[in-house]
Order: sequence, then C-alpha cells, then structure tokens
Amino acid sequence: MIESLLKGLAVLEREALDAVATAGDADTLEQVRILYLGRKDGKVSAILRALAELDPEIRPRVGSEANRVRDVIRDALERRTTELTALAGRPREGPDDLTLPGRARWVGGLHPVTRVIDEICRIFASLGFTRARGPEAETEWYNFVALNTPLDHPAADMQATLYLSGNILLRSHTSPVQVRVMERHQPPIRILAPGMVYRRDAPDASHLPAFSQIEGLAVDGGVTFVDLKAVLGEFAHRFFGPETRVRFRPSFFPFTEPSAEVDVSCIICGGSGCAACKGTGWMEIMGAGMVDPAVFEAVGYDPQRYTGYAFGMGPHRIALLKYGIPDIRLFHENDVRFLEQFR
Ligand code: DAH
Repeated sequence: MIESLLKGLAVLEREALDAVATAGDADTLEQVRILYLGRKDGKVSAILRALAELDPEIRPRVGSEANRVRDVIRDALERRTTELTALAGRPREGPDDLTLPGRARWVGGLHPVTRVIDEICRIFASLGFTRARGPEAETEWYNFVALNTPLDHPAADMQATLYLSGNILLRSHTSPVQVRVMERHQPPIRILAPGMVYRRDAPDASHLPAFSQIEGLAVDGGVTFVDLKAVLGEFAHRFFGPETRVRFRPSFFPFTEPSAEVDVSCIICGGSGCAACKGTGWMEIMGAGMVDPAVFEAVGYDPQRYTGYAFGMGPHRIALLKYGIPDIRLFHENDVRFLEQFR
C-alpha cells in the first residue's frame, strides 16, 4: 500500500515538473498550477486531503512525502514564472532588433554667411537700426546717378556691371537702398540694408560675381563723424571682440565726403602681423563716410538741415576673415563637409 502511494507521488512529481519546464507562457503555467496544486481538484492537493483517511501507521511517511512534492512543484512554478517574465522583457532578435542604436536624423543649419548677416543686423538693431531692402534689378539712377556717380565716372564703368536691358542693371552695391529709403522717408533715419550685389568679376579665391553687402545709413540734424566712429567702433567691439582696435583711413567714394576705409586689428594675430592680414596687423572690413550733400539733393533733402553717415560692408568677406577661410568659392560649392563646420 505505502509503496504504491509513494510511487504514485513520484510519478506526479515528474509529470508536474515536466509540465512546468515546457510551459511557454504565463497562462499555460497557471493551468499547470491548477492541475497539480489547485485548491479544489489539484492532483497533489487531493492526495493531501485524503491523508486523513489513511492508516495512521503510514500517514506520516506519505504525508511528509506529499508535502515535499507540493513544495518542489511550487518552487518550480515560481522559478519558471520568473524565467518567463525575463524572457518577455527581452527584445526580439532579428530585423527588428530594438537594441540597435537609432539612425541619427540629418540636422541642417544656417549658412555661415547668413549667420554673419544675422549677427551684424542684430548688433545694429540694438543700436537703433531697422532693416530695409531694395530690388536687385536697379536703374542707373539708383545705382549710380543719385549716388553722385555720373555714368562716365570710372565707378560706373560698364565693364564691372551686369546690365539686363536698357538702363536696368543688377545692382553693383547695396547703396541704392539709401536713395530709395530717403526718397520715401524723412529723417531721422537709421537703416541697415543687407542683400546680394552683382559684378562682372570672374570667380577666384577672393571674388564672386554675386556676393552679399550690408548698407548702413543714419541721417538726422547734427549727425557728425563722431557718431559714425562711435557706432562703427561699438559694432567692431561687439562683433570681433572687446580687444579689437579700429582705424579709419582716408579714402574716396562718390556718395560720401569725407570718406574712409575702416580697418580692424587682425582677428587672427591680434595686430602683430600674420598671413591672414598679410603682415600688416589690420583687416579692412568696410567703406564709410559722411553722406555727400549731392546725394541729399538728389533725394530732395535739405543739405543745410541734415547731415548723415553711411557705410557698406561685405558679409562674405567678413565671414572669410572671421572663420579664417582661404577661398570665398567654398561658400557656394554646397559641400556639406565644409558647411556643417559652422553649425
Ligand atoms: N558701395 C560701396 C562699395 O560697394 C561700399 C560703401 C562705401 C558703402 C562707403 C557706403 C559708404 O555706404 O559710405 O564698394
């Protein structure tokens, strides 16, 4: 009697452990638990319940064996549950391997020349200059004549200018925006006009037939050269750094009198002389001057009442200086390896 009971328990134990080991998910495992340890009909539970009816002589042996089998099955169920939970949490292998690193999204950026233009406009905006703009196809009047540049003046030489038809040409500088603004508005005026300009120049390391300029103009009663120096000095310190020195060299432009070229101490060597500044310690960044009374007359301003200053700079050139770029053509080759350095 006792032998067959113990053998039956051993068979149940093996059966149950097999069923636990092969259960592939939590539901199957729960069914296995109910089958063997279920309170009502579980096979092991039934034996435990039947112990009471056993002969007291064999009851302790069978009872302790039945308890052991129940504990073994319970432990096996617990271990398998942990195992299945861990398996479920692990990412699937194969083509959808979620542990692979993500593919980086390509992030664009602003062109280095656009950055320079924005930065310059931001500085002048804080000094009270608003943005203005004018057309890229201009008439000779705006591009030359109103700017005190007769058409037979060397600066109006057709050699350097791209004509579209008749007296319409691609503007060779942003200075015509000065005229357009003054024609439409009365002083006080403080504008900054960024834009593209065009010249019949073959591209080389320092020339492009299309490049950017930024024009500045301030007109009011009592504006002097001191205002010009102060504003451009402030700009140079903010844009190139507080150590930067500024110098004004006498020059000539038809639309300003007096006129100056504005240099800043070399931003690469600080002024001691290097390849970037060709050993001079200085870098030319713009032309400037006091607005010529002839320009005021062309736009209908009273030159006795108003004075003003103007300046013009080339963001392409300034970007070359700022970043130490050896060839201006790099800006327009659309080589992402070059452009992404400025993000
Ligand atoms: N328009 C000049 C050029 O293209 C630059 C310039 C010089 C602009 C002096 C000005 C100025 O407003 O005052 O070379």
